[in-house]
Amino acid sequence: MDHWNAIETQPKSTLKALFDAASDRVAQLSFDQSGIYFDFSKTHMDSALLENFQKLAADKGLSDQIEALTNGSVINISEGRAAEHTAERGMGAKTSVENAHLLRNRMQGLVQAIDAGALGDIEYIIHLGIGGSALGPELLLESLKLGDEKYETAVISNIDGSALEPVLERFDAHKTLIVIASKSFTTAETFLNARSVTDWMAEQGVSDPFGKIVSLTAMPETAVEWGVDESRILPFSETVGGRYSLWSSIGFSVALTLGMDVFDDLLAGAATMDQHFKDAPFNQNIPVIAAFCDQYYSQIRGCETRAVFAYDERLKLLPDYLQQLEMESNGKSVTADGKPLDRHSSPIVWGGVGTDVQHAVFQLLHQGTHLVPVELLAVIEPGHSLAAEHHHGLLLNCFAQGAALMTGKKSDDPNRNYPGDRPSVTLLLDDLNGKTLGALIAFYEHRTFVNAMLLGINPFDQFGVELGKEMANALMAGDGNQMDPSTETLKNRAFPA
Ligand code: F6P
Repeated sequence: MDHWNAIETQPKSTLKALFDAASDRVAQLSFDQSGIYFDFSKTHMDSALLENFQKLAADKGLSDQIEALTNGSVINISEGRAAEHTAERGMGAKTSVENAHLLRNRMQGLVQAIDAGALGDIEYIIHLGIGGSALGPELLLESLKLGDEKYETAVISNIDGSALEPVLERFDAHKTLIVIASKSFTTAETFLNARSVTDWMAEQGVSDPFGKIVSLTAMPETAVEWGVDESRILPFSETVGGRYSLWSSIGFSVALTLGMDVFDDLLAGAATMDQHFKDAPFNQNIPVIAAFCDQYYSQIRGCETRAVFAYDERLKLLPDYLQQLEMESNGKSVTADGKPLDRHSSPIVWGGVGTDVQHAVFQLLHQGTHLVPVELLAVIEPGHSLAAEHHHGLLLNCFAQGAALMTGKKSDDPNRNYPGDRPSVTLLLDDLNGKTLGALIAFYEHRTFVNAMLLGINPFDQFGVELGKEMANALMAGDGNQMDPSTETLKNRAFPA
């Protein structure tokens, strides 16, 4: 039986018709889990679609895949290893969970030692890393900082010196800790930045800049060879993927800046989502239902993008984080067994912050010719102490956008006609704290995994990023090999002989 075909040929009801047909639609399609309320009722999901998607999931062996993910089986086939981010949160092969626990204790020991002054008077932290070694930590720091932290922490990823220079101008080199976060311990941007920071420290008269380095890596031997003292290396397992690594020692700068208790809350919050993902039947399973919606819009309704709007400034980095998580995981043209993928891979994820986006991109969402499934996030407890109107206004604008996209408004004037029937999912967090943010990120990880399994993709490799790196390295090395005429002209214009 071709389940995709059954999904494809199912009659396409409007959102209005779906609401009219089921008075309990909101109750059926909304879920409360880990301090987050998920409302899928404004999507085109209905019981018939849900049924067909469950058949598709069964056909793809999703239950076995979830079991394999969470028991430490080799699921990243192309790289011949497990994908053990859930072991960091306590779910996985016994030895991996124990190992993660030991490594976290080691991290806690270093956090406590630095807090107690073992590396001198530290007030500033420069966290150097890129991709998964930066996006997760920066999201956590931006989302959860209260403004009264003991350390000022800057996350620097870009090779562009314009990112690092202002930080060096602001920070006191004698009171700065350098954190080098790199799973592979080879990434060019991170090590150029590391060299610039150690040079700056030396110029400022710091006698032993290398003595102020902490390294977070799955390659501890390489870090030792590079010159970092073993006592300041926090390893993590190679089976934890880069974009899934914020739970490991890659979260060290977060634990140091925000406190070990906040970091533990993140893990605990994620663990509650892991348990839900593992135990809940598919028609009640939040990451699974979210992925069913993703596949419906992407494969059946032809949506090439998905937009994520955080109605909370604290979550402004969430779209950036999700871009790597989803697009690096599922932006592939072949299935796990190397066959051409005959469907769309990951949608393009984009987004921004409400209410700003309403005055910029929402025109297209309400009246443009593209259908864009929208995700709206908001937090019931405000992150500030200003007048209540700010937060009321923020939340009510968020809810109004979901309603307007769905109901639309008819007008005889085509310019003023809103077609409506445009889908959105709303995620309403009770509060923004370590636990809810941990659960939220774990939800996104599992949803990405389910999307991959429905497509037959391996979400844990990223060979697509290698060619660009190779060509950049060749250009930087000036190996004399000619590139195409356009690229050669650009190079010669920027760097005349
Ligand atoms: O270039 C892609 C990538 O490998 C990401 O997957 C990874 O998160 C990032 O680079 C950084 O890699 P590393 O942590 O090894 O420096």
